[in-house]
Amino acid sequence: MSRGLAQLYEYTNAHFLADTLLMRLHAYPEYAAHTEEHDRLVESLDSLRLTFDSGETAMTLDAIEELRSWLAVHIQGMDLRLSTYVAENGIPVIRR
Ligand SMILES: [Fe+2]
Repeated sequence: MSRGLAQLYEYTNAHFLADTLLMRLHAYPEYAAHTEEHDRLVESLDSLRLTFDSGETAMTLDAIEELRSWLAVHIQGMDLRLSTYVAENGIPVIRR
């Protein structure tokens, strides 16, 4: 696996785990749609890894950039909506 692909795997795994925990903790209403989008990216990453391992590295570099762009759109869209929801419906803080 290329270094760029490995970094993308690490980043997305950490990101998706954090998102999933937040959505479950806050009973996020868009949980299904959000996790479906995560699943599609994981499928693309798995497919990309297979392509890279078969020796098609030039095509893989372009695909990695495409996935990075997709992830940026996801963060600016679905993740922003999630963070807004959590901020508006978060666990109340007890103040003394
Ligand atoms: Fe997400």
